[in-house]
Amino acid sequence: TTVYLKDYTPFGFTLESVHLTFDLAPETTRVKSRVLFRPDLSAPGRKFFLHGEQLKLLSAAIDGKPVTPVITPEGLTCQVPDKPFEWTCEVEIAPAKNTALEGLYMSNGMYCTQCEAEGFRKITYYPDRPDVMSTFTVRINGDLPVLLSNGNAEGKGDDWAEWHDPWPKPSYLFALVAGDLVAHPGSFTTCSGREVELNLWVRPGDEGKCAFGMEALKKSMKWDEEVYGREYDLDIFNIVAVDDFNMGAMENKGLNIFNSSAVLASPETSTDMNFERIEAIIAHEYFHNWTGNRITCRDWFQLCLKEGLTVFRDSQFTSDMRSAAVKRIGDVIDLRARQFPEDNGPLAHPVRPESFQEINNFYTATVYEKGAEVIGMLKRLVGDEAYAEALDLYFARHDGQACTIEDWLKVFEDVTGRDLGQFKRWYQQAGTPRLKVEESWEDGTLRLTFTQSTPPSAATPAPLPQVIPVAVGLIGPNGDELRETEVLEMTKATQTFEFSGFPTRPHASILRGFSAPVILERDLSTEERAFFLAHDTDPFCRWEAGRALALDTLNAMALRGAAPDAHYLDGMIAVLRDDALDPAYRALMLGLPGQSELAAAQAEAGHTPDPDAIWTASETLRQTLATRAGDLLPKIYAAAQVDDPYQPDAEQSGKRALAGAVLSLMSRLDGGTTASVQYARADNMTLKLSALACLLRAGKGANDVAAFYEEWRDDRLVIDKWFMLQVAEAPPAKAVETVKTLVQHPDFNWKNPNRFRAVLGAFTGHHAGFHRKDGAGYELLADWLIKLDPVNPQTTARMCSAFQTWRRYDTDRQALIRAQLDRIAATPGLSRDTTEMITRIQGA
Ligand code: ARG
Ligand code: ZN
Repeated sequence: TTVYLKDYTPFGFTLESVHLTFDLAPETTRVKSRVLFRPDLSAPGRKFFLHGEQLKLLSAAIDGKPVTPVITPEGLTCQVPDKPFEWTCEVEIAPAKNTALEGLYMSNGMYCTQCEAEGFRKITYYPDRPDVMSTFTVRINGDLPVLLSNGNAEGKGDDWAEWHDPWPKPSYLFALVAGDLVAHPGSFTTCSGREVELNLWVRPGDEGKCAFGMEALKKSMKWDEEVYGREYDLDIFNIVAVDDFNMGAMENKGLNIFNSSAVLASPETSTDMNFERIEAIIAHEYFHNWTGNRITCRDWFQLCLKEGLTVFRDSQFTSDMRSAAVKRIGDVIDLRARQFPEDNGPLAHPVRPESFQEINNFYTATVYEKGAEVIGMLKRLVGDEAYAEALDLYFARHDGQACTIEDWLKVFEDVTGRDLGQFKRWYQQAGTPRLKVEESWEDGTLRLTFTQSTPPSAATPAPLPQVIPVAVGLIGPNGDELRETEVLEMTKATQTFEFSGFPTRPHASILRGFSAPVILERDLSTEERAFFLAHDTDPFCRWEAGRALALDTLNAMALRGAAPDAHYLDGMIAVLRDDALDPAYRALMLGLPGQSELAAAQAEAGHTPDPDAIWTASETLRQTLATRAGDLLPKIYAAAQVDDPYQPDAEQSGKRALAGAVLSLMSRLDGGTTASVQYARADNMTLKLSALACLLRAGKGANDVAAFYEEWRDDRLVIDKWFMLQVAEAPPAKAVETVKTLVQHPDFNWKNPNRFRAVLGAFTGHHAGFHRKDGAGYELLADWLIKLDPVNPQTTARMCSAFQTWRRYDTDRQALIRAQLDRIAATPGLSRDTTEMITRIQGA
């Protein structure tokens, strides 16, 4: 069944309080609930429906009198009085059998929960919708050393604990954890002087991986006070690390639950990228306390209200903690890799979708990342001051409420007096706008004519023009800034902007900072691109110029067998030589566009991408650059070494990123000699892995791969990397076989989402390996999706998106993919999650 935004109706009852009692047992946990309901007598067609799935109802009563509700697979209904009443019921559930990892489940002997979006209904009968909020009191009875729930600790004994959360919340923010855990403690004094107890709870053995996460939490708490004026509101803040988790982490009130990969870190076992990601996710979940928890969503169509805003906030945090330019470029790379394919394929949906079958399928790059881009555009359009005022108003006006995108936009309208009616289309329309720009120069005036158009999609058959903030700056012939960045506000399908009074033609640097999530179409000569690569004063546009050169030359090489472009090579040599540039930024400049991104660009230009040709072009270009750079490389590599003790900060990790990029070029010339030395000497995982990757690519990694396994076999997060790397670095013709071998490994626990993604996820990211001409890659993935679906529908459904780009490819590959989609769709008992994904990908 499909749910529609337009069908929203309020619940019809207010909840005064919720009391829950858990008697924990792996296969027979009992959950008692006591809820005070007050009917909203003005609500038309009031109906008492409680969600509930896979529950064994033991008893139910209203005001103490037993009742017999009508039960369906989705929930129950019952006759209720027209006055306030107390609902009680008891159910039995089996956490140990819950492999879907939604609701209450077990991971390594520990009980934990994941309720967002609709998992609470697998714990007890309840109005499991975000606009129903209540205070919770939770009693946990269980023979485990640590028993946690939301809010403040009210009391505990040998085998019980009681928690009370004074802040009304929806059920999706409920959490419970019970297990043999140890705490890494900390504390934080808030701006008003309240002392908050902090704990990071982990399994014994993981104590040494907590310090970084704890510091990240404190930094986040401080930042949210300083930048958004948001103070924490409970006496205690707990974070728990869990090995079996479908997503990154979850912002349950006062009790965040994290995938252990998103919180545990040490220099020996984690890479610089892991550290940066962990810092961002800790911040993200903490920031949800205000954007998500204190102000939540009216319904799940409004998911971007909390996610887009919280992603935007965590990206601001990372920009402040590290390099803003590097963060921005990283976010654009990520957006193009994950959101653009979604927005331009059969899964396209608006940032605020209008219908869904399974809400878990809408925790997407569009809702999260494009949702954050929309907020960035809004901030750019209204300015920093008005943005801050609007946010203050948002918190003041809506604290304690379940809100909509209309509420969100209204605070901006009220603060600025702007009409955001057209801007709202960013929330309502699917598809990535194409922004074409044409330039003319006459009598000292530069004219920029922009034309926007968004391809129609199933979700948005007739897109209308959107408000596009285009940040533009003008540069003189020597790279001097002739006109500082200004934001052109595009609202029509076509618009011309003029810049006058120049003796010679200025260079227009367009879409600075990637000021809108669009595809910029601009015909520039390679000379002009090389100019921007050398001179643009905007770090994003400068990087983008190099990226465009790389893209153009790779496409010419793959499609026409052209030789590598000299402007690209010269530009990269200049970047390599430029010691004044931030090493992290130089490392980004040296990166190539992903092979899937190249395929997308070719399809966009009307060609049929050939994955093997794209792979070969990428290899050839790297090899050519390595040869051209030659003697330069060892010097840069040496200069990028870090002598100080390991720190995962921006400065050191930037140097290691540059050293890694240079090492990968050097390894093409020295056959892996330098990489061998680095591998042997490395005292941290960043250097170990970058060296091992080079050795594998040089075909010399076999011994080290085996030794690596022996060294780390007891560390599941490192072994995930071990699996992942072997798939990622397999030659295209061997990727399928590599996967088939690895899934036979005794440590391939396919029911663990991290391990499953380490192998199959890495495989779908191996463009030429996955798209092998004979279809063996498609068949292999489909086999595993069919196998995982009954066990864990959520993780299965997510990975179906590997097929979303299928119409880009040649008719043979399309037919091979179609056959696999049909085979998955025909699987008896296929989950609602996977059914929805496959049907959408198949298209009309
Ligand atoms: N709200 C969580 C986060 O962004 C993600 C939870 C997703 N859960 C899910 N079942 N789709 O931070
Ligand atoms: Zn979130």
